[in-house]
Amino acid sequence: MTDSKKMKAEVIAVYPDKVKISVDDIAAFSDGKSIKVGSYLRITDSESCALIAIIENFCIEVTERAERRHIIEAMPLGIISDGKFIRGGDTLTIPPTGVSPATEEDIKKIFEESVESAKKFTFSSLAANAEIMVPVDGNRFFNKHIAVVGSTGAGKSHTIAKIIQTAVAEKDGGYELNNSHVVIFDIHSEYKTAFPDANFLDADNLHLPYWLLNSEELEEILLDTGERDNYNQSSVFRHLVTENKRKHNPGAKSIFYDSPLKFDIHQVLNALYNIKEETVNAKSESRYMVKDDSYSLPADGKTDTTHGLQLTAQQRLDKYFENRLEFHQTKRDSITNGSYADKTLEKFFTRFEAKVSQERLEFLFGAAADTATLEGTLKGLIGYGDKNSNVTVIDLSGVPFEVLSITVSLISRILFEHGYHYKVLRSKAGEPINSDAPILLVYEEAHKYVPNSDLARFRASKLSIERIAKEGRKYGVTLLLSSQRPSEISETIFSQCSNFLAMRLTNPNDQSYVARLLPDTLGNLCDKLPTLSAGEALLIGESVVMPSLIKVAVCDPAPSSHDIPYFQLWKEEWKDLDFDAIKKTWLKQ
Ligand SMILES: Nc1ncnc2c1ncn2[C@@H]1O[C@H](COP(=O)(O)OP(=O)(O)O)[C@@H](O)[C@H]1O
Ligand SMILES: [Mg+2]
Repeated sequence: MTDSKKMKAEVIAVYPDKVKISVDDIAAFSDGKSIKVGSYLRITDSESCALIAIIENFCIEVTERAERRHIIEAMPLGIISDGKFIRGGDTLTIPPTGVSPATEEDIKKIFEESVESAKKFTFSSLAANAEIMVPVDGNRFFNKHIAVVGSTGAGKSHTIAKIIQTAVAEKDGGYELNNSHVVIFDIHSEYKTAFPDANFLDADNLHLPYWLLNSEELEEILLDTGERDNYNQSSVFRHLVTENKRKHNPGAKSIFYDSPLKFDIHQVLNALYNIKEETVNAKSESRYMVKDDSYSLPADGKTDTTHGLQLTAQQRLDKYFENRLEFHQTKRDSITNGSYADKTLEKFFTRFEAKVSQERLEFLFGAAADTATLEGTLKGLIGYGDKNSNVTVIDLSGVPFEVLSITVSLISRILFEHGYHYKVLRSKAGEPINSDAPILLVYEEAHKYVPNSDLARFRASKLSIERIAKEGRKYGVTLLLSSQRPSEISETIFSQCSNFLAMRLTNPNDQSYVARLLPDTLGNLCDKLPTLSAGEALLIGESVVMPSLIKVAVCDPAPSSHDIPYFQLWKEEWKDLDFDAIKKTWLKQ
């Protein structure tokens, strides 16, 4: 070990969260190795107990005698005592006697021994020394939410790919598929190349039956924001949906508006049409003036109390669901409008009808919804199929923008509720662990689904994901959120994350936001964020023995980058484009 006395390296101040060191000859002190922010120091006291600290910053001071010396500030991380590293601890007796760069063996030992081998999950090495692998506790890493933040190009997608590839490859035995379950919401179509064996869903083969939508989601699609507050519309709509669920599920015990049970949206549409058109006998309101062959109006125009179809509320609904009916016109004193036939439902009906028949919303309202089942949809979303897959990539790039939030919300909610009900099932059977097939949900560009904004169009996805952030852990559903704009992510969600990979971040707002949310008092280490290179990250959290600057190992195969090699492409020969095909895709959007 280097003799700190000779090169005059000494501890000049000790604070609870900082140690200040003065070094006269930095070259001799570092012994030829590079010392930089993020490197580790070993500080010993007379009790021969060693404190390990991470360098946060250093500066050069010129003394009165015009001598230069380095002042290093380091954050204490833990103590090596009897050959074992213990996080935290302030047992350093003052004054500490020696300080030197921690040796490679010291650091290697700390990381190697930090996690028992069955729990070791390794996807990176120290940025300062590629020889030293940085294992995390795989259980702690995945059972709490994870945040990966960094400016575009920092290496987030590659990091996510590496983490998942490593998780999928880890096996206790010689079987082909392990029991990992990952769902990636892929907004930029990047992950197909990284996971060629994945269960791949995109706008063409994704089917989410509309009857799985809950009230928030259904109304977000079908009602205008202004209309949503219109009690008439939403209450008529809710009533019709609930009644239609009753009609189609005669065996079900309790049926609510939100029950994930089949109903027929076209029948709801029929009923709505009839309700907005209906006329009734002015003298007897339970007689509906349907134009059918069962009766005719008297020639003198005077309708008496026996005219019109006498229907109970239930009969009326059943009839209204079946067909769009014609009604007799209103007549002074004898035929009046039904309670809702006052044109207030007109706009709602038109919008509703247009939405349901829109080609671009076919993945929700198309014919596949009639034959879809809850269990089938669920299986498709987590890779249970003819061929099982650990990873499901949901390519959202072709999903119409206005229903993106709903799509993400619906899928997230279904997977959360699956976790919830699976737990119920298991605890009834006396199983001690809530889920034996826990799921990781990966959200790329998370600020797009769960922003720090109360705008109505984010309401659905924010609700679903916030719920998972708060409760998902209990039911074996955790989140991995990736974002280039962490300051725009809902704080509720971000503050629930226990493991952070902070990659290069150039925006000062984002830097200070991240620094504020990090669980450890990392202070100046965050100042390093703007200068990290691609694939480097500050790894912090419960799963890692101490905050570390890491370099994520290169993933293989890689996600497709959205960097377009302009200059290379431009140098190639003129390309003909298929404008017809472009138009077809365009119109479908
Ligand atoms: N661990 C890594 N090691 C080396 N290069 C990396 C690493 N991670 C990412 N890169 C490089 O950085 C570039 C951007 O990575 P990407 O994952 O697409 O960033 P982001 O998703 O943050 O925009 C890629 O071209 C990739 O080659
Ligand atoms: Mg990316």
